[in-house]
Amino acid sequence: MLVGRSPHVSMAVGALVAVLSHGCSRAVADDCRTREAGMYDPATFTNVDECAECHPQHYDEWQGSAHAYAVVDPVFWAGNEISYETNGIENFCITCHSPVSDITNSDPEVHQSSQAEVIPQAQHGVDCQSCHRIYDVTNGGKQLTFCEDYYFGPFADPGGAPHGVEEEDVFTTPAYCRPCHDVNISNETHDGLTQIEFTYTEWAEANEAAGGSDTNAVIQTCQDCHMPTYTGEAAVGWGERELHEHRFAGVDVALLPFADSHQQYRAMQRLLSTAAALSAEQEGNSIRVEVTNKNGGHSLPSGAAHAREVWVHITVAGADGAVYLESGDTDANGDLRDGHSDIDPYGDPWVSSGESAFRQGLYDKNGNEVLAAYGSVTTVERDMLEAGEVRDVIYNLQGLVPAEASYPIAVNVELLFRPAGTYLLRELGLDPALAALVPVTTLAETSFTIDGGL
Ligand code: HEC
Ligand code: HEC
Ligand code: HEC
Ligand code: HEC
Ligand code: HEC
Repeated sequence: MLVGRSPHVSMAVGALVAVLSHGCSRAVADDCRTREAGMYDPATFTNVDECAECHPQHYDEWQGSAHAYAVVDPVFWAGNEISYETNGIENFCITCHSPVSDITNSDPEVHQSSQAEVIPQAQHGVDCQSCHRIYDVTNGGKQLTFCEDYYFGPFADPGGAPHGVEEEDVFTTPAYCRPCHDVNISNETHDGLTQIEFTYTEWAEANEAAGGSDTNAVIQTCQDCHMPTYTGEAAVGWGERELHEHRFAGVDVALLPFADSHQQYRAMQRLLSTAAALSAEQEGNSIRVEVTNKNGGHSLPSGAAHAREVWVHITVAGADGAVYLESGDTDANGDLRDGHSDIDPYGDPWVSSGESAFRQGLYDKNGNEVLAAYGSVTTVERDMLEAGEVRDVIYNLQGLVPAEASYPIAVNVELLFRPAGTYLLRELGLDPALAALVPVTTLAETSFTIDGGL
């Protein structure tokens, strides 16, 4: 499969030249260490553009991903600042959003508050080197181990690469994603750790429920769903292999002009079209809506679920157009009519009670909701749709449909997704114009009519 000819690309300067001399020697374990701030000299990291010369396919896909956007994201920086001002969190947020910045910065007092303050090699967020210098996952699966001069990956036979390469099995398993995709916050406002993101934990629970274990995946892995395979060249001129897509499509899109945003949007829409199912029927005086999280890998929403909104929008209207019930609509600010609405707080009982909205709430020790000062979180309330879960939402029409109703009555139901509520951008002090760029995606929809007799 491998073609033994060198790529017609000039070798990059800096660290890549240094690693060349290591060639095929396997003294890897010697310089591999568990992550700690400032463990590496910044000079040992090159700019990601240098990887692009030989790996254009991976670069093209990655450059529009949330991983590449992780320290561009204005929502991230707003949260980073509020956490710093409220809880004194200095470079904690950077550890995952720009790993290269953390592992090359030994001074914990240095607080960065914008992309421009991060060293040039780290301005690309979770980039090729952040991920491909990972050698192992240690400390009970919670911490990453990095090595100096090697790029690890899934190939058993990467022979001939002009830099250190070695096969690491961890790349093909969810354990690899865990240190970043389970988020635990620790700080001086309270003892111990509070977990605020659970994607890996959710996956591990679903896997265990299906009979698997930490070392045996019996359900689809993170890579199966987020890195679909296709055939192409891993490096220019090196022959075809099975590759893994590096768009890492999720639920988010860039709110600022960003590379490849159309393709990224389409990949997000494709993924979301697989997420959920919806059905609805009349049951006496009620409508029963059944919502299914079709994604067997984790909750819907998952990850930063405290920012996400997943909810049922329903309208029940007479033939004459009179609306008897609407729930899951938004107010003039664009907010759901729940506790986050300034205009009609708690005006929508189904959404407000959480019956038709599936979410995670973060609270401080006084019971107030935490929107961004993550270091204040003491309690996490989780009511998302679990992997594979089917949930009923009941809308009782008693008293809402008049005796003289105009039949047939049309019932339209949709399950909607929004990566961030308008209220959140407002609370973070971001430009309200950004809210208009946050897409609302229909995950599933259904409709039916009631012909009489309510
Ligand atoms: C001068 C060309 C060149 C440059 C520059 C280059 N690579 Fe490679 N890389 C290769 C070749 C050739 C292979 C082997 C391809 C194959 O076996 O099909 C490879 C393989 C890899 C692999 C696969 C390892 C495995 O075992 O699965 C990774 C990961 C990788 N490179 C990462 C990087 C990163 C990160 C950078 C930038 C810091 C980079 N490369 C820069 C040529 C290059
Ligand atoms: C069976 C396929 C599947 C598997 C397995 C899977 N995902 Fe997902 N993932 C999805 C789908 C579909 C979505 C979009 C909506 C949702 O379900 O949250 C998603 C969304 C996400 C999001 C955005 C979540 C949000 O709502 O903000 C992240 C982050 C993510 N996945 C990471 C992972 C990681 C890490 C793993 C492994 C621990 C994993 N996924 C396993 C299908 C999968
Ligand atoms: C979030 C972590 C992450 C980032 C960022 C990342 N990769 Fe990967 N990469 C992986 C994982 C995981 C695999 C293996 C997937 C598998 O085999 O299941 C992989 C596989 C590869 C491979 C082997 C061929 C393939 O497609 O399976 C190459 C080459 C590679 N990556 C290069 C790059 C380059 C170049 C960049 C930057 C432009 C990059 N990667 C960014 C995690 C990452
Ligand atoms: C070094 C840390 C790190 C590793 C390793 C990592 N991720 Fe991520 N990932 C992040 C961060 C940080 C973000 C959020 C970026 C943002 O939007 O600000 C993210 C975002 C994502 C998203 C997009 C979520 C959305 O809301 O759209 C997906 C999907 C994803 N990661 C999947 C994976 C998978 C699958 C793996 C393992 C193969 C993995 N990641 C490994 C740090 C990491
Ligand atoms: C342990 C790794 C880790 C740490 C530390 C971390 N994050 Fe994240 N963050 C992630 C991952 C992974 C995602 C992607 C989850 C998703 O998309 O649902 C994410 C997503 C986000 C998002 C959502 C992106 C968006 O635009 O919707 C914001 C905002 C964010 N993080 C802010 C922060 C702040 C502020 C801190 C520090 C208090 C922080 N993060 C610390 C891993 C981390």
